[in-house]
Amino acid sequence: MSKAPIAIVGTGIAGLSAAQALHAAGQPVQLFDKSRGLGGRMASKRSDAGHLDLGTQYFTARDRRFTEAVRQWQTQGWVAEWSPNLYQSRSGQLSLSTDEQLRWVGVPRMSAIAAGLLGDLPVKLNCRITEAFRGEEYWKLVDAEGNNHGPFSQVIVAIPAPQASTLLASAPKLAAVAASVAMEPTWSVALGFAKPLETSLEACFVQDDSLDWLARHHSRPGRDDPLDLWVLHASSAWSRQHLDMARESVIEHLHGAFAELIDCVVPAPEFTLAHRWLYARPSQSHEWGALADAHLGLYACGDWCLSGRVEGAWLSGQEAARRLLEQL
Ligand code: FAD
Ligand code: NAI
Repeated sequence: MSKAPIAIVGTGIAGLSAAQALHAAGQPVQLFDKSRGLGGRMASKRSDAGHLDLGTQYFTARDRRFTEAVRQWQTQGWVAEWSPNLYQSRSGQLSLSTDEQLRWVGVPRMSAIAAGLLGDLPVKLNCRITEAFRGEEYWKLVDAEGNNHGPFSQVIVAIPAPQASTLLASAPKLAAVAASVAMEPTWSVALGFAKPLETSLEACFVQDDSLDWLARHHSRPGRDDPLDLWVLHASSAWSRQHLDMARESVIEHLHGAFAELIDCVVPAPEFTLAHRWLYARPSQSHEWGALADAHLGLYACGDWCLSGRVEGAWLSGQEAARRLLEQL
């Protein structure tokens, strides 16, 4: 009989990183995701104005192992360097803020990385896992429709901490650690203009009441947008305070803040979209790498185990896979 696969819940960068490492070590895996598409916070949203990178805007690589992985992704054609005309805005003062930092984006969209990492690995999308339980020998998963999945030899839970704690109930210590992690929301808004805005600004770090970041979508390599699209991110504090605000009001407010900040005339947009990321980033970094109950065969990973960045999520997935493999 063939070996029972390892279940991985979550196809964000952490789950895919673990999946790739396990696959490379000859272990069968089965991935699950509640969404229609792969990539989690690195996904690109399909919209009337084309594919939009509403979550992860770019990423940096500082760890040697991650840097090597990113170089391989570059060779595969999944990522490219992005060097926007970078500004910052502090206390309403806009200034050029060029630096030497290497920044990466997926091409032609952020989700290309997830698609590349998945390759031919088996995945069930639109499948929200609500329970993970262990029988005498094997793990079973239950989804929101009441369907059973399994048997699995081990389970890796690769989803944001507040959602992970339920799936970690078989290991109360792990569940308690996940439950202790607070995550901050982010409102993300896209604006599309028929006529390109008359500015040289392509990305901007913002420090004001509501905005945190803004970027011109087509300044990234490989984008082919019919409109001049801009993505605006609200700060964590503003997003928390306006968590339940109607989407139209969020768009109106952030559009106003954008128009006040930028050095050109901003007309009414042709296209608008707002997306609320409830668990956008952990409120602080940790040094857990990944969580493990090796005896049970239950593991957890995600950006919240390290830093709230793509690099942290990828490293956490590698660590979950490493700890699982050392038990075999
Ligand atoms: P996720 O990407 O959240 O993946 C978890 C997956 O699990 C999701 O696909 C979800 O659908 C799925 N899932 C959840 N619950 C279940 C369930 N019960 N059953 C099945 N599937 C489930 N990082 C940077 O480095 N640079 C940036 O510029 C940057 N900008 C950001 C901007 C925004 C607005 C946001 C939200 C994040 C940003 N980040 C950025 C952070 C970065 O996106 C994350 O650190 C990283 O993508 C997290 O990956 P992950 O795999 O840990 O989690
Ligand atoms: P990075 O080194 O480019 O940026 C880190 C931080 O340094 C920035 O947030 C900014 O405050 C500052 N900074 C960097 N370059 C600057 C410049 N030229 N001028 C002015 N300020 C500058 O990238 P890193 O360390 O990989 O961080 C990832 C980015 O992802 C950060 O910007 C972070 O805020 C963002 N992020 C956003 C989330 C959200 O929910 N909106 C979630 C997680 C990360």
